[in-house]
Amino acid sequence: MKTVLITGCSSGYGLETARHFHGQGWTVIATMRSPRDGLLPASDRIRVLPLDVTKPDSITAALEAAGPIDVLVNNAGIGGVGAFEATPMSHVRKLFETNTFGVMAMTQAAIPQMRARRSGVIVNVTSTVTLAAMPLAAAYTASKQAIQGFTGSLAHELNAFGVRARLVEPGYAPTTRFADNTDIPVMDLIPEAYADFARPIFAAFANPPLITRESDVAEAVWLAANDTSDRLHYPAGADAVALAQGRSARGVGWSASVFFALGNGWARDAR
Ligand SMILES: NC(=O)c1ccc[n+]([C@@H]2O[C@H](COP(=O)([O-])OP(=O)(O)OC[C@H]3O[C@@H](n4cnc5c(N)ncnc54)[C@H](OP(=O)(O)O)[C@@H]3O)[C@@H](O)[C@H]2O)c1
Repeated sequence: MKTVLITGCSSGYGLETARHFHGQGWTVIATMRSPRDGLLPASDRIRVLPLDVTKPDSITAALEAAGPIDVLVNNAGIGGVGAFEATPMSHVRKLFETNTFGVMAMTQAAIPQMRARRSGVIVNVTSTVTLAAMPLAAAYTASKQAIQGFTGSLAHELNAFGVRARLVEPGYAPTTRFADNTDIPVMDLIPEAYADFARPIFAAFANPPLITRESDVAEAVWLAANDTSDRLHYPAGADAVALAQGRSARGVGWSASVFFALGNGWARDAR
C-alpha cells in the first residue's frame, strides 16, 4: 500500500486530493497548519498531522512522524492580488515563504528517503498564472513561477535516482478558501490611481466561462503521481487545460486565474 503526504489539507484542492488518494486505497498523511477533526473520513489509512511549511521544526517533526512516503504533494499556498506598487514587501516575502521556500524546504526534506529507495514522486501545485501573464498578480506569479523553474530543473537530477518531480497547474476554483486566505484585503492593494485599470478587469472576471473543480486538481495530482512517463506539466481544470492548449490565450488565461476569486473578493470588499 502506498503513502502520500499532502500539505494544506484543511480546505480546497488539498482536502479533495486527500479524499481522492484515500478513495484509491492509499494511506494518506493529511497535513494542516491547525489539524481539525471531521474533515476527512475516519480511517486507519488517514493520519492528520500538524505542518506549517514556513517553519523548519514543523517540517522536520511532520516528516519524522509520517515515516516513509511514496509521494509528496506540495499543495499549500496563499494568494496575493493587487497592484505591485502597493504590495508591502513584507507581504511579498510572505508569499515566497509559503509558495516558494515552503515548497523547496518540503522537497529538500523528502528527497533523502526517496533517493535512498530510488523511488518516489514530488508533485508541486502551482497555477495557471505561470502559463500566461495575468495583471495585478505580479508577486504571486513570481512565487509560483519560481517553482515552475525549480521543478523542471530538479526533475533532471532526481530522475538519475529514480525519483520523479511533477507540476500540477490548476485554474480558478470559486469554491476553495483561496480568496479569503490572505492577510490584506484586495481593496487595500488597489490604490486610487489603479482603480480605473482594475475595475473592468475585475468586472470582466466576475463570470468565468470555465473554471476548475477541486476534483479536477485531485485527479491531476493522482495522474501526476502515478504516471511513469517523463511528463512534467499537468494542467488541472477546464480553464487550465484550455489555456495550456493555447486556445484563446488571453481571455481564457485571465479567466483561468485566481484572479476571479480575488476579483470577487475585491467586489465584496468594495461593497
Ligand atoms: N483556488 C484557486 O483559484 C487556485 C488557482 C491556482 C492555483 N491555486 C493553488 O492551489 C493550492 C491550493 O489552493 P486552494 O485553492 O485549495 O486554497 P485554500 O482552500 O485556501 O487552501 C490552501 C491550503 O494551504 C494551507 N496553507 C496556507 N499557508 C500554509 C502554511 N504556511 N503551511 C501549511 N499550510 C498552509 C491552508 O491552510 P490554513 O487552513 O491553515 O490556512 C489551506 O489548507 C495553492 O497552492 C494555490 O496557490 C489555487
